[in-house]
Amino acid sequence: MNENQRELISTTVPILRAHGLTLTTHFYKRMFLHHPDLKNTFNMGNQKSGKQQNALAMAVLAYAEHIANPGVLLPELKRIGHKHVSLDIRPEHYPIVGNHLIASIKEVLGEAASKEILEAWEIAYNQLAELMIGIEADCYKSQTDKIGGWTGWRPFEVKEKVKESDEITSFYLYPSDGGKVVKHVPGQFISLKVFLPKLGLNQARQYSVSSAPNEHYYRISVKKEINVHLNVNGMISNFYMTKYRLAIR
Ligand SMILES: Cc1cc2nc3c(=O)[nH]c(=O)nc-3n(C[C@H](O)[C@H](O)[C@H](O)COP(=O)(O)OP(=O)(O)OC[C@H]3O[C@@H](n4cnc5c(N)ncnc54)[C@H](O)[C@@H]3O)c2cc1C
Ligand code: HEM
Repeated sequence: MNENQRELISTTVPILRAHGLTLTTHFYKRMFLHHPDLKNTFNMGNQKSGKQQNALAMAVLAYAEHIANPGVLLPELKRIGHKHVSLDIRPEHYPIVGNHLIASIKEVLGEAASKEILEAWEIAYNQLAELMIGIEADCYKSQTDKIGGWTGWRPFEVKEKVKESDEITSFYLYPSDGGKVVKHVPGQFISLKVFLPKLGLNQARQYSVSSAPNEHYYRISVKKEINVHLNVNGMISNFYMTKYRLAIR
């Protein structure tokens, strides 16, 4: 990326920030229209409440803002990378997000988006994607290098369920293949994926491992999310199944 392209990106950041919500709403609508399968990857509850849907596009804008010194964003990029790994995000997903993001910038900025601006954005996105893919490749490798390690979604079953209180229930999750699990470190979380018939989609949520580190199972303690006012209860925390698919970070 040359100096001129960096300059071009910097000039568009405030405009894109001002239109942040329009941009991100447009982006997700566009991406899900062309790739409805990705609804299984994203948290549709967050999409509905708008809670996290800004995160992806806003992080790309933050990168553009620090284009001259992206190293300052490394700790944050590592955190995002861990979350991505827990959701089994792979290198082949990056061009999809990139295409829809650049197309959305073009559609939202209209005539203000010159060919040069769009080219500069494409280069910036690809640089960031390469960085993220590298961080995530290291995480995937470190998972498979460990005893009991795996990547992707592995089937687990609930062997024991303990009601801790009116709100919280613990689930003891064992690999369906009878194999070992990676000994977790304190504070580690797993992503759990289930098929929700109500949505006709797979959905994933994160849960901290609440058991002591061991090679046989993970215990998670789930609080039922109840929203009495709106009559919309949490989708996964109120849904009990005996089989789950888990990915770890
Ligand atoms: C790193 C990490 C670790 C976590 N660890 C734990 C843990 O150990 N234990 C735990 O219990 N949770 C944990 N969580 C939270 C967990 O991942 C889920 O977010 C939580 O269980 C709620 O998921 P849900 O599917 O039940 O709710 P969702 O369906 O995702 O809904 C979330 C909230 O939004 C409300 N809502 C849904 N739809 C609407 C709507 N249309 N309008 C307004 N409000 C709406 C719901 O009532 C609910 O309160 C963790 C999260 C992270 C990121
Ligand atoms: C350079 C590109 C990307 C950036 C900068 C980025 C950034 C982010 C950020 C900031 C979050 C929120 C993390 C958190 O706070 O928990 C996030 C979450 C997420 N990202 Fe990415 N992301 C990128 C690419 C992708 C790709 C290619 C995919 C796959 C299609 C993807 C899928 C997700 C999913 C599923 C979540 C969880 C959010 C949810 O379900 O609500 N991201 N990303």
